Amino acid sequence: NELKPYANEPFTDFGMQANQEAMETAIAQIKSELGRTYPLKIGVQMIETEPKITSINPGNLDEVIGFVSKANQELAEQAMQAALAAFETWKQVPARERAEYLFKAATLMRERKHEFSALMLLEAGKNYVEADVDTAEAIDFLEFYGREMIRLSNVNEAQPLAKIPGEDNRLTYIPLGVGVVIPPWNFPLAICVGMTAAAIVSGNTVLLKPASTTPVIAYKFVALMQEVGLPPGVINYVPGSGAEIGDYLTSHPKTRFVSFTGSKEVGLRINKLAADTAPGQIWIKRVIAEMGGKDGIVVDETADLEAAAVAIVASAFGFQGQKCSAGSRAIIVEAVYDEVAKRVVELTEQLQIGLPEHNFAAGPVIDNISFARILDYIDIGREEGELLTGGAKAPGNGYYIQPTVFGDVDVKARLMQEEIFGPVLALAKAQDWREAIAMYNDTEFGLTGSYFSTDNDRIAEALDTIHCGNLYINRKCTGALVGVHPFGGFNMSGTDSKAGGHDYLLLFTQAKLTSRKR
Ligand code: SER
Repeated sequence: NELKPYANEPFTDFGMQANQEAMETAIAQIKSELGRTYPLKIGVQMIETEPKITSINPGNLDEVIGFVSKANQELAEQAMQAALAAFETWKQVPARERAEYLFKAATLMRERKHEFSALMLLEAGKNYVEADVDTAEAIDFLEFYGREMIRLSNVNEAQPLAKIPGEDNRLTYIPLGVGVVIPPWNFPLAICVGMTAAAIVSGNTVLLKPASTTPVIAYKFVALMQEVGLPPGVINYVPGSGAEIGDYLTSHPKTRFVSFTGSKEVGLRINKLAADTAPGQIWIKRVIAEMGGKDGIVVDETADLEAAAVAIVASAFGFQGQKCSAGSRAIIVEAVYDEVAKRVVELTEQLQIGLPEHNFAAGPVIDNISFARILDYIDIGREEGELLTGGAKAPGNGYYIQPTVFGDVDVKARLMQEEIFGPVLALAKAQDWREAIAMYNDTEFGLTGSYFSTDNDRIAEALDTIHCGNLYINRKCTGALVGVHPFGGFNMSGTDSKAGGHDYLLLFTQAKLTSRKR
């Protein structure tokens, strides 16, 4: 049967009463399911463990989302064996059939969209729009990577070879083996689904180690894949601590690849561990690592200043700045600095803080560790710049922090160099647009950036000189769309794996050339 061309999943308009109510109904339903226990999933087995990860609502610390079983090394080893066994049959399943599991899952997720989003409101602290965008992106990844695998499996389309007389030559993309998938908590559905779906549709089997703060939404995805009939052992669900099972699986001789999204520190550790060759290991492990960012928005004096201020605030404070794409720096040329800074402060002060389920613009940060770290950075900011707004905890039974803006921060300041992953924005002043771009580039990261200008010559130069994986002109630096804005960064932002792009599945496959003499 004919596949519809890929198109992005539309976002929900919560201005419509019916959609608002549908979300409220979904929240009530998810609330009735809170506090359950969740097993590991290893091959055909569902295993309850005594130690559990307690997932709580970061916006209401008394609310337990679920108690999730926790793998130790022995169980991680069992999961590895299950994944190895499943790989032997899964790799033989035709690409189209593998893709169909993704398409079926996308259809069901679309039908139950608000359920997935509601769980993210409660488990991750997203507001309606942020959660809805996350679910839409998850659906997009399923639809996109399914189609991508079908395209790659078509030998004539994926890489046409030059013809020579007397030979039939083919290049096919075959899977790698067992992969360890370690997604982040900040897009706890979208990125978890994207990383996992790409790996399995390519014919690999995986050990999915969800983020410890958002394991229930990951379980909901695993359960969905089970519901659509994905064979056991293709996705093994093994929550657990990084130090205990993350390192063990990364170092395992049978691990063929590790797909990671998260902090620079953990990404570098994985890269180092994976580089060692364990006894019995017969390959170089592949590491796909999407790490942090110190993303920023550059504004020159020709820009639409209102649009720039709106974009700065949206990029800095969407989901409390907890995105690798978050615009935590804004570099503004002197001539318009005061005007833009003033407007940024006004817009920031309009953000109301409160419970995600009541759809406040600003919610909690993810956990006590983040909370403490962000507050430390705010203290550092007081030394490094001028506090323009925010700067304190906010009331509520959760990890609430005021959206915070510091002005006149030096380019070398920690606030301008280090990823904070929270609602803290640093503003810096540049003499002119070229200096502003140089300041933007003065970081070890290189994930997303925006340039606001109406001068076409400058824009043309900026397109070349601003060094980041996702560069936007006259718009915010968050919100990449699958298939539209392939996403990934340079330098310490990771391996530039370009999720949601046509190159992504190549990372999960190896190309085999066969040449037959006629
Ligand atoms: N893809 C997301 C964005 O662009 C970040 O992971 O905001």
